[in-house]
Amino acid sequence: QRQRVNVTVTGAGGNIGYALMFRIASGQLLGPDVPVALRLLEIPTGIRAAEGSAFELQDSAFPLLRDVLVTDDPVQAFDGTNVAILVGSRPRGPGQQRADLLEGNARIFGPQGAAINAGAADDIRVVVVGNPANTNALVASSHAPDVPADRFTALTRLDHNRAVAQLAAKLSVQVTDVHGVIVWGNHSALQYPDVSHATVKGRPVRDLVDEDWLANEFIPRVANRGAEIIAVRGASSMGSAASATVDHVHDWVNGTGGDWTSAGVFSDGSYGVPTGLVSSYPVRSLGGRWAIEPGLSIDAFSRARIDASVADLVAERDAVSALGLLGPGRA
Ligand code: NAI
Repeated sequence: QRQRVNVTVTGAGGNIGYALMFRIASGQLLGPDVPVALRLLEIPTGIRAAEGSAFELQDSAFPLLRDVLVTDDPVQAFDGTNVAILVGSRPRGPGQQRADLLEGNARIFGPQGAAINAGAADDIRVVVVGNPANTNALVASSHAPDVPADRFTALTRLDHNRAVAQLAAKLSVQVTDVHGVIVWGNHSALQYPDVSHATVKGRPVRDLVDEDWLANEFIPRVANRGAEIIAVRGASSMGSAASATVDHVHDWVNGTGGDWTSAGVFSDGSYGVPTGLVSSYPVRSLGGRWAIEPGLSIDAFSRARIDASVADLVAERDAVSALGLLGPGRA
């Protein structure tokens, strides 16, 4: 058996946290031969829920699960951690402005970034799930100047998986027949699910669907799927968000194989996205690091949509910056 990996989950008493921890403990996050220790971080109001979940983890007798710690202390939660999954965040209140939401969350993700900087293991990998995920990742990283920027990522894999599934349903094929989908930009309603490089059984998707369907059905359906789930289910995406998080970390650690996927990573200026933003890109993981897929052509249809999503990221970054909430790391 391999060396044990410490995994921290914040917001562990919440819905996604609950769906996530059983997948992690069963070995699906890292692999069937990797022992894991879980660190569950909550705020005091969520501690009892996290403790109850820890009882259930114990009752599941997972062979790979070495240890479970429940705490409301970020320093303890991130001490020696190898993988940090930042789910806990402040939900948008009724009528709340975006600036208030950004500020409330920056006040969570700043200190968590500092705690990661102070205590996490050298190989720390961070994925931010809690919204606004891209900007929360930027804030956390800016408070972790000693951690390389490429260790901070935001989850857009759920959007990617939704796009793959919508295409498979439309074309009556298996999801495994769909390759080359990309989600660009922000994990918000302005995200851009792009099929211009996608293929189904080797045929370009652009030859199989018309632009009207793409612009008026596919893109809004994927971008607004979270709201659709809430409307139908009466609660937000939990299992699918947890599943996408598992996919993201699993592929980051173990590699993407032959296909790229989508993840929010720090821009290096590729595809006209300003450096220093955490933007969703087509990425492959090789040797445990995400690399942005280079050299893809971008047509006018895509360019306009990528630019709109990036403008959304710039507005969020400027808002947290104006509030003085970016740390010294990557201001
Ligand atoms: P939830 O409200 O059920 O759980 C959130 C938990 O976080 C609560 O138990 C709360 O006590 C805890 N929490 C709040 N502040 C914390 C802090 N400072 N430290 C530790 N824990 C803290 O929410 P749910 O459904 O689990 O969703 C969590 C987040 O994930 C939301 O922001 C949601 O918008 C986001 N989300 C992101 C997706 C993505 O694709 N990136 C998809 C779906 C949801």
